[in-house]
Amino acid sequence: GSDISLVHSGKLTTCTHLPYAPFQSKEGKKVVGFDVDLVDFIASALKVKQEIVDTPFEGIQSGEDLNANKCDVAAAGMTINEVREKNLDFSTPYFEATQALVTKKGKPYSSLADLKGKKLAVQQGTTGEAYAQKNAKGAELVQFEDLALLLTAVKTGQVDAGVNDNGVLYDYVKDNPDTEVTAEFNTGEQYGIAVRTGNDALRKKINKVLKQVRSDGRYDRIYKKWFGT
Ligand code: ARG
Repeated sequence: GSDISLVHSGKLTTCTHLPYAPFQSKEGKKVVGFDVDLVDFIASALKVKQEIVDTPFEGIQSGEDLNANKCDVAAAGMTINEVREKNLDFSTPYFEATQALVTKKGKPYSSLADLKGKKLAVQQGTTGEAYAQKNAKGAELVQFEDLALLLTAVKTGQVDAGVNDNGVLYDYVKDNPDTEVTAEFNTGEQYGIAVRTGNDALRKKINKVLKQVRSDGRYDRIYKKWFGT
């Protein structure tokens, strides 16, 4: 039978914030990425289709969107942490990440200390922003609404460097050889899929699917597809 009772509109609606390649980004009109494929496995286990809702990260990470029933799940390369756990519930972890530093090639910035008196780009509402606020003493933080704006600012020299998750930065520098990742900060983050607080039925179903796809090779297949190793 179908688990259609676990979703509220006959579809599995996913809140995410674009672009965040290779986890979620637009390819023409379609939204594609690692998270999209992963949530498709969950949708297919529920015998429904996934529908993606692109919405600012702030409403996702604060739990506001989920608790207002804007979506059934949130999958946005979102780090599991204690503050967020107060306002939404996470699945078991599905991906490891750490904060990292991106600059234009040849710039002498390979630690946060090097950015004293310099402009450092952060993405609004993210763990990278919180990390920079705490650790980039003396840098001028410049806030961007999304990753594309942040990366363009780094590339054009509007800022001196940017902080964000390692996976998305390595993906960017691969196609932008005038930029490089110069540091990783070992923040030890893990991504989770979020549901509305107390939605244990859906959360447990997600955990079951995550376990399944790790053991039957589907996780490895999409990992290879998006990370190429
Ligand atoms: N992992 C970081 C966090 O949870 C950044 C996530 C940003 N994701 C996005 N789709 N814009 O704060």
